[in-house]
Amino acid sequence: MLASRGSCEELLNPPLPLKLNQIHGGDALQLVPSVPDGSVDLIICDGPYGTQSHAWDQIPNIQEFNLTLIRMFSVKLKHGGALYLFGKSNCLDFIDYRPYLTLCSRIIWFQPNRLSQGRINYTNNYDIICYFIKGHRLRVFNLDDIRVPQLVELEHRLRCEKVPSVSNGKFSKTKFNQKGKNPGDVWGDIKQLTYKSHELISRAALNTIQKPEKLIERLVKASSLPNDLVLDPFCGTGTCPVVCQRLGRNFIAIESDHDFINVANTRLKRTMNHVRVPQKLPSSQLKNLLTHAAPLHN
Ligand SMILES: C[S@@+](CC[C@H](N)C(=O)[O-])C[C@H]1O[C@@H](n2cnc3c(N)ncnc32)[C@H](O)[C@@H]1O
Repeated sequence: MLASRGSCEELLNPPLPLKLNQIHGGDALQLVPSVPDGSVDLIICDGPYGTQSHAWDQIPNIQEFNLTLIRMFSVKLKHGGALYLFGKSNCLDFIDYRPYLTLCSRIIWFQPNRLSQGRINYTNNYDIICYFIKGHRLRVFNLDDIRVPQLVELEHRLRCEKVPSVSNGKFSKTKFNQKGKNPGDVWGDIKQLTYKSHELISRAALNTIQKPEKLIERLVKASSLPNDLVLDPFCGTGTCPVVCQRLGRNFIAIESDHDFINVANTRLKRTMNHVRVPQKLPSSQLKNLLTHAAPLHN
């Protein structure tokens, strides 16, 4: 079961501006505008998909909803800052996001072990994570922090070194990096949580709600630096705040469900003793946030 209802009035009525390193109760569409413009390094947006029976997921036109989010987030991001927007394969269909952000990748999060099976169509085995940046020059992409093991055997790898490969239309030597390879844009190595996962906070959070920490960790490591500011407008069970706390990133998290807020706060408390505390952000743009910043350690 999720944590019992607590002082939800308190949770659902945060004073503005939003405090750093806290989970704020309320509607993301109302609260995000109070984040200072151009202050956010990374946004992890795992919000409604428009496919589930939960009341919060009943969005009549998910594409228009996503466009509204993209427009709102583009103002909050720093130049070169990144947005990861979760959704189904159609989540960007027929909308023009190009005036706001640059789409760099549509990452496929491949989940071959989904239990529900289609009868009149192919079973959907993946989610999409749309990776955008603001402008055309990205601020950060820490490839070395997210490399995955090379899949080929050593002998074959060494042979590959001598095999020419084509990049940008030119032949060059195939590179073998001891540290591992780029994870690419189809991720099958990170499994969806199951009933048996230690991480899972409740069965109610299975299927499209609670994401594996490893998944969010890859995004945070790739597109932010220690002490950066990460915005998670739909934080659910608090996976992204927990990862940020562990990796020494500042965060602003928002969630409308008081049960999830309680769960997320419990997870944050558990993580506290094992983390590097992010330093306060130096930017003068964040003056208000800093004045009201909540300490990570109580
Ligand atoms: C897919 S879940 C996020 C799960 C999260 N990434 C995790 O690992 O636990 C989406 C969450 O968004 C919340 N939500 C939906 N609409 C919202 C809104 N307008 N404002 C704030 N939260 C909202 C839901 O309550 C739900 O917990």
